[in-house]
Amino acid sequence: MAGKEPEIITDKNQMRKWSRAMRSQGKTIGLVPTMGYLHEGHISLIKEAHKRTNLIVVSVYVNPGQFSPTEDLSTYPSDFHGDIQKLMAVPGGVDVVFHPHNLYDYAEGKPTGINNNGSNCENSGVGEPERKGVVSCVEERGLGHETWVRVERLEKGMCGKSRPVFFRGVATVVTKLFNIVEPDVAMFGKKDYQQWRIIQRMVRDLDFSIEVIGSDIVRDGDGLAMSSRNVHLSLEQREKALSINRSLSGAKSAAENGQVNCRELRNLVIQAVNSAGGRIDYAEIVDQETLEAVEEIQSPVVFCIAAWFGKVRLIDNLEINISK
Ligand code: PAJ
Repeated sequence: MAGKEPEIITDKNQMRKWSRAMRSQGKTIGLVPTMGYLHEGHISLIKEAHKRTNLIVVSVYVNPGQFSPTEDLSTYPSDFHGDIQKLMAVPGGVDVVFHPHNLYDYAEGKPTGINNNGSNCENSGVGEPERKGVVSCVEERGLGHETWVRVERLEKGMCGKSRPVFFRGVATVVTKLFNIVEPDVAMFGKKDYQQWRIIQRMVRDLDFSIEVIGSDIVRDGDGLAMSSRNVHLSLEQREKALSINRSLSGAKSAAENGQVNCRELRNLVIQAVNSAGGRIDYAEIVDQETLEAVEEIQSPVVFCIAAWFGKVRLIDNLEINISK
């Protein structure tokens, strides 16, 4: 079902101009930041945004700043055309898709550089975001991006441990998007629980005038949390990966039935995922607000897990809201 076609904006000054024009007409703007390859999880954020603001901007940008050189930037899936089709099918549609080529390019109209390998640092066009990484392109070109936003304590644990540059990259690009789009409301999925909490804290600490909303995880029928990376799972790996959601649900039931010892609960999940052939990165039960690990459940917690199935790293979590 084709609906309203969104306006596609690639230039940050044009994006800001659009937002300011709309705001001067009294319109409110919701921003849904994404890296594209959209699925129902992303779409749910747009539907939630529709409940809160007059206009919706979806950003589609694979942010090189949040990938380390050993990570999957070059294989991160993308399908810009397919994304637009999906956005057109959303009830109420989307007003703007902000799809910048390179958010770390400050050349502003000056000719762009060629890197040492002779390959062009510039992106070749819509649908193919910059994939060479901040360091290899921006620094080689002398454009010198050197400002990073860090949310110091919240970024330390869990995903921050195994992906040391990840959250500074996320916080920085989200800051850039906030400054460019100037939204009233910004939507984030609880699928990336730590990311959501970090952005909430950043907005509070740096006095952004933006309401940050955390939206529930959307799962496939079999319970696997939707993720753009699921496309890289073989059928067999996908089946094995269901151990994540199943064991998290098992741990939650156990907690609701009185097992409040976190070591026991973690063991349930670790054993289930290991015996399915997954490799645990972390499995932690943390306070929902502070993200500090807890030993015994006495207040609302969230059980967060990251595990590898083959070359695919999946994350998932489940909130446990019992209090003792
Ligand atoms: P991406 O992985 O594309 O996710 C965009 C948004 O969709 C995030 O807020 C994420 O939590 C949410 N999301 C993903 N899968 C979901 C699911 N199954 N249910 C509910 N929400 C889901 O997260 C990023 O991009 C980037 O780090 C970004 C914030 C865009 C910064 O580059």
